[in-house]
Amino acid sequence: MTINQKDNEKKWKDSVEETLKRFPERKEVFQTSSSIPVDRLYYHENDSDYNERLGFPGEYPYTRGIQSTMYRSKYWTMRQYAGFGSATETNKRFRYLLEQGQTGLSVAFDLPTQIGYDSDDPMAEGEVGRVGVAIDTLHDMEALLDQIPLDKVSTSMTINSPASILLCMYIAVGEKQGVPINKLTGTIQNDILKEYIARGTYIFPPKPSMRLITNIFEYCQQNVPKFNTISISGYHIREAGSTAVQEVAFTIANGMAYVDAAIASGLDVDSFAPRLAFFFNAHNNFFEEIAKFRAARRIWARIMKEHYQAKNPKSWKLRFHTQTGGSTLTAQQPDNNIVRVTLQALAAVLGGTQSLHTNSRDEALALPTEESARIALRTQQIIAHESGVADTIDPLGGSYFIEALTDKIESEVTIYLKQIEELGGAVSAVEEGFMQREIHRTAYETQKRIESEEEVIVGLNKYKIDEEVNPELLKVDEKLEREQKAALQERKLNRDKDLVNSTLKQLEWAAKNPEENLIPYILNAVKAYASVGEICNVLRREFGEYGSI
Ligand code: 3HC
Repeated sequence: MTINQKDNEKKWKDSVEETLKRFPERKEVFQTSSSIPVDRLYYHENDSDYNERLGFPGEYPYTRGIQSTMYRSKYWTMRQYAGFGSATETNKRFRYLLEQGQTGLSVAFDLPTQIGYDSDDPMAEGEVGRVGVAIDTLHDMEALLDQIPLDKVSTSMTINSPASILLCMYIAVGEKQGVPINKLTGTIQNDILKEYIARGTYIFPPKPSMRLITNIFEYCQQNVPKFNTISISGYHIREAGSTAVQEVAFTIANGMAYVDAAIASGLDVDSFAPRLAFFFNAHNNFFEEIAKFRAARRIWARIMKEHYQAKNPKSWKLRFHTQTGGSTLTAQQPDNNIVRVTLQALAAVLGGTQSLHTNSRDEALALPTEESARIALRTQQIIAHESGVADTIDPLGGSYFIEALTDKIESEVTIYLKQIEELGGAVSAVEEGFMQREIHRTAYETQKRIESEEEVIVGLNKYKIDEEVNPELLKVDEKLEREQKAALQERKLNRDKDLVNSTLKQLEWAAKNPEENLIPYILNAVKAYASVGEICNVLRREFGEYGSI
């Protein structure tokens, strides 16, 4: 063993001892069914080449995982994305999933909320509560989080352009529960670049959007230090049809754009980088997905340590959530999706994810029923408790195939990152359409392979059956839209109009002054029960809308 490797090994063992004080291992003894002991980590004592490049878990460059004990101490967070209809209905689903053993919350908002329209806005017609929960004012957020202890549960919110507003609502509900703001844990997605590239729920042009994002970084590092301020997403890039390499490359390029913007706004890299988080897809090619996650960790660690000169190791760690690939689900023979999701979830776990959502079998057809959502959660629980894969760290590490794939993905991602740098970085690349073109080309080629049956999708282009089955699907009650609108109108009549107007006026003033951090003004407006639409309209008037002529 080289001296360097001996040092690394000692550092890892010391870090394990430190970690075990706060996060003891789940079991006294880890062993197989034949009572063969399962070690915490397997590595070749004298194979310095592998160990130099691989490193140890919890040690730079984190190829084998970001924690020194990983799942031996704590499973990944089982965090099912959920939300539909009214806040009360979604609160029921949240509490059901927590009772069934889910360990973190993840809020799906309806499109009007995501794009900054109130439920009574003509633009919201037909979409209220459809793809997620309708949130208009703080009243709805209070109902959404009713009987959910915010000092014990971390909540992810898939919200981008209006992320600051929903974060402020979460802070306000925490205050009402008596939870100190600096104890709140969770994540806001807050990743506008991928919305321009792939997902589409953008409101404002890039510059003001980046201002809102860096305002959140600044406000949270001062007031909400345990909250993850952004979930830099590759998921939707992959769902739009990218390859695994493009998913990592474009996501990391976006991540660098956020770091650049935050540094340009005057923030020190170590003041916000520890709270940057990521979000990736777990797709069908099992080994490629595992290698993808391992390569992403190593690339990000090097960029943060070498390119940005971040000093805090927490700034080097790529912590990520994974969702199994929605676009791989088939409407045909929906039960087959349980197998797809199992393999994809297993890849995410073997790739070292921190948090995981498993799709439900019926999601190619509708939002999941309670039974389908339960099966999806049980999939994670079976992997955790019955498969044994969480009992040793990075079990595939050192495999010739996995390490070769990890290296190859790393080198191909690096080529893309150089191309994007030559275009002036991610924002310019997005404005120039580079990433979009790359994704569209890949998506087209993939579709051609499926249609020619070169790429087999079981039940879709091969092994088809005449299906009579009409699985029971979740339906969002049509009357919800009327009820939500009526409730909102009634609340707008029964609030302190002067207070609402003055907080919106102050926000307008702050928006006109680029030096102002907008979050405290948004928090005041939210506490006055101003609505998402009212707050976004103030910002629309000041910032304009992306894509509008
Ligand atoms: N040793 C030591 N510490 C450990 C540990 C171990 N083995 N395991 C966990 N911990 C610690 C962590 O360090 C952390 O403490 P800290 O916050 O003080 O560092 C704490 O335990 C919690 O662990 P994690 O942070 O690893 O897990 P979380 O679940 O809290 O956070 C995350 C994971 C990826 C960092 C976070 O950003 C997250 O939860 N993201 C979720 C995002 C999400 O759900 N997105 C859904 C989007 S849906 C969508 O967009 C799709 C739609 O459009 C279709």
